[in-house]
Amino acid sequence: MVKICCIGAGYVGGPTMAVIALKCPSNQVIVVDISVPRITAWNSDQLPIYEPGLEDVVKQCRGKNLFFSTDVEQHVAESDIIFVSVNTPTKTRGLGAGKAADLTYWESAARLIADVSKSNKIVVEKSTVPVKTAEAIEKILTHNSKGINFQILSNPEFLAEGTAIQDLLNPDRVLIGGRETPEGQKAIKVLKGVYAQWVPEDRIITTNLWSAELSKLAANAFLAQRISSVNSMSALCEATGADVTQVAHAVGKDTRIGPRFLNASVGFGGSCFQKDILNLVYICECNGLPEVANYWKQVIEVNDYQKNRFVNRVVSSMFNTVSGKKIAILGFAFKKDTGDTRETPAIDVCKGLLGDNAHLSIFDPQVNEDQIQRDISMKKFDWDHPRHLQPSSPTSVKQVSVVWDAYEATKNAHAVCILTEWDEFKKLDYQRIYDNMQKPAFVFDGRNIVDVEKLRKIGFIVYCIGKPLDQWLKDMPAVA
Ligand code: NAI
Repeated sequence: MVKICCIGAGYVGGPTMAVIALKCPSNQVIVVDISVPRITAWNSDQLPIYEPGLEDVVKQCRGKNLFFSTDVEQHVAESDIIFVSVNTPTKTRGLGAGKAADLTYWESAARLIADVSKSNKIVVEKSTVPVKTAEAIEKILTHNSKGINFQILSNPEFLAEGTAIQDLLNPDRVLIGGRETPEGQKAIKVLKGVYAQWVPEDRIITTNLWSAELSKLAANAFLAQRISSVNSMSALCEATGADVTQVAHAVGKDTRIGPRFLNASVGFGGSCFQKDILNLVYICECNGLPEVANYWKQVIEVNDYQKNRFVNRVVSSMFNTVSGKKIAILGFAFKKDTGDTRETPAIDVCKGLLGDNAHLSIFDPQVNEDQIQRDISMKKFDWDHPRHLQPSSPTSVKQVSVVWDAYEATKNAHAVCILTEWDEFKKLDYQRIYDNMQKPAFVFDGRNIVDVEKLRKIGFIVYCIGKPLDQWLKDMPAVA
């Protein structure tokens, strides 16, 4: 029996290991983390992350072959395969600050593995890391290795939050990179054996280490690029009277392009896209490739532009000021079906509106007040540094109230901004919302989910990303 340990019980480590435990009943899987509250939550009925289907999988395996523990040293020492799924945020200070990946957490995990190991181990990079990280990790592990053989594999995770369990059960591909030595190939075979218990062999791709590491950064860059491409078109659609949904449909019908990831929105978010592209940009710069770096940097710049454009549209439509006005924010998570708010566009939109002195009333079905206040008062790039490792709690912002109901949020509001595409926002009673709002009542739909015609009939002034503007908005053009 192969004993598997995963360091890092987060959005990736938790669901990934739960699915491995489900599909490999003869393997023991232990997820360890230095965060006591996180492990306590994994062992309770209130899991630390919201992910459709996750609770069911955890309940089936927990206590049988799936365990969560804070005893990092013991379980690392006893395991054969160690996945490292710790966070790899953007560096906030020092060399490469604001771009390079902060590998502090990874390095301390590697040092711990080196310190406590007494037998040969396969160490798997599950976290997204800069290309060539395995080389550095190898140095840490083999220095003072007491004759132990460590094989490093790169096995980046491609799951998407909100659909993590489905993605893990039925992945497009599993990627495993390893050294091209006999030992490296043997290690690849062992890890392949784990996935092969439920993933068809032709979907398990094996490569060299550097290709696997770079493929993850490249995949995220390509995905984010599609969003920035369609978002850049949305600005042109608004200027010309074209409809971005129609354009995206027509473009996506080309089988060379495909229809997915072509929804215009207020911008992409999540813990990965921005940080991984910044990391890619930094790696390009370090390798003397400024043109390549600038090319990818544009993907982020268009994303920032899109968020600013949205804020400017809100402010300019409302007589060029939102000072003292109540604005309802529906949705704060970076997308539906997750409670994750890391790098959500809602943070920048809310900060932009607060900058013009608006009063915000925020509702998200999965995000609590503490999280929202923390996010809004946090400095850029601090979002992915775990709370328990942060020095102090930021104070709450007075102009922000967080409520637990969309109708409460919109009561007496001048405007509604939809920032997450939760299904329940499509089904709201917009007549009731309109009746309880200040007039003129505005809806700014940052996710293109509302029935525009229906809302206009009710009396709302409606703005949707990349859609033909109604006369009111044309008369008050946004300053981009
Ligand atoms: P997370 O922040 O949710 O979880 C990381 C966990 O590692 C935290 O609970 C933290 O306490 C723990 N940790 C940090 N240092 C530790 C140490 N030395 N020993 C034990 N535990 C330690 O992060 P998340 O979202 O799970 O991401 C992990 C990695 O996976 C990142 O590199 C990310 O880029 C990558 N990734 C994330 C995806 C996502 O959708 N969130 C998707 C694919 C990859």
